[in-house]
Amino acid sequence: MDETFRCVTCTAPVNIAVIKYWGKRNEKLILPTNPSLSVTLGQDELRAKTSVAFSSKYTEDRMWLNGKEESVSSQRIQNVLKEVRRRVRKRGAPGGGNEVDTSRHIHIVSENNFPTAAGLASSAAGYACLVYSLCKLYGVQGEISDIARQGSGSACRSIYGGYVLWKTGDLMDGTDSFAEQVAPESHWPEMRSLICVVSDQKKHVGSTEGMQTTVLTSELMQHRVDGVVSQRTDDMIEAIMARDFPTFAKITMQESNQLHAVCLDTYPPIFYMTDTSRLIVRLVHAINDVLGDIKVAYTFDAGPNACLYLLKEDVPRVMGLLRHFFPPAQRNGEPFVTGLPVDELPV
Ligand code: PMV
Repeated sequence: MDETFRCVTCTAPVNIAVIKYWGKRNEKLILPTNPSLSVTLGQDELRAKTSVAFSSKYTEDRMWLNGKEESVSSQRIQNVLKEVRRRVRKRGAPGGGNEVDTSRHIHIVSENNFPTAAGLASSAAGYACLVYSLCKLYGVQGEISDIARQGSGSACRSIYGGYVLWKTGDLMDGTDSFAEQVAPESHWPEMRSLICVVSDQKKHVGSTEGMQTTVLTSELMQHRVDGVVSQRTDDMIEAIMARDFPTFAKITMQESNQLHAVCLDTYPPIFYMTDTSRLIVRLVHAINDVLGDIKVAYTFDAGPNACLYLLKEDVPRVMGLLRHFFPPAQRNGEPFVTGLPVDELPV
């Protein structure tokens, strides 16, 4: 028997931002130009599942993503591995001895149950899950969202459930740029999200490249950083704490629109939304107009797929309207609803 074999499996859900992260002030440490805030979705719907193992029999670090072997040499994977191993050496881990021997090689196996790199926050769930699993494997305790941040910025928010803020931070070394829970999922039990998969194709401009070009070329981006996003973040936290859905929804839509306006203001411009995405926007505004109040909000990340936020009582009629206007032939699968049930990632 291999005495040194140890394996941990975890799952982590995606998070979808209502205040958007777009732009870095430090590329290497992945420090953002502005705060962002997201909602972590349900465990059972869009999630990454990752197993990490170490063994004295492994001769090199290896990784398999969605069944295919990938190199572990990418800078971000290396950043995460190095940082976790550095913390193990610095702090030690419960049990000590062999458990904290970071010289052993590891194997990583990860899979998503939804399209990867299609603007559905696959990297957020993936890196959050990798970091969480590694920390469990090595017994690293304390704040770990800043390690996830170094894999993919938005991943730091998937470490927590519910409503999560990623602080911009002021320090050059990034130690004050981490995620914190604003409210647990249980704070707003009626909240639901509905994911409309418009396309499962990989996006044509990755978020890293897109952000770099935006920061360099967009004047509107400066306007965001100069105060718009901070004010919206404060207003959003207030809306969440008061469970004020119309305000939550309005800011969510304004943020999504400004993210895509900033992308259009980038030179050359970046288009993530498609005609179908824009039809969803029009439909949501039409629903809200007919109902005489804001009952549903859309948000789009770096891709054409929509995440709708709405309250439980409005799910049936909004689902009905979506099915009516996007019959199966025009839909890429069923829209599906998720609760927001996690406060902590199960191991
Ligand atoms: O963490 P990244 O590099 O995948 O960037 C994600 C950026 C957006 O999804 C568009 C917005 C956000 O805040 O999640």
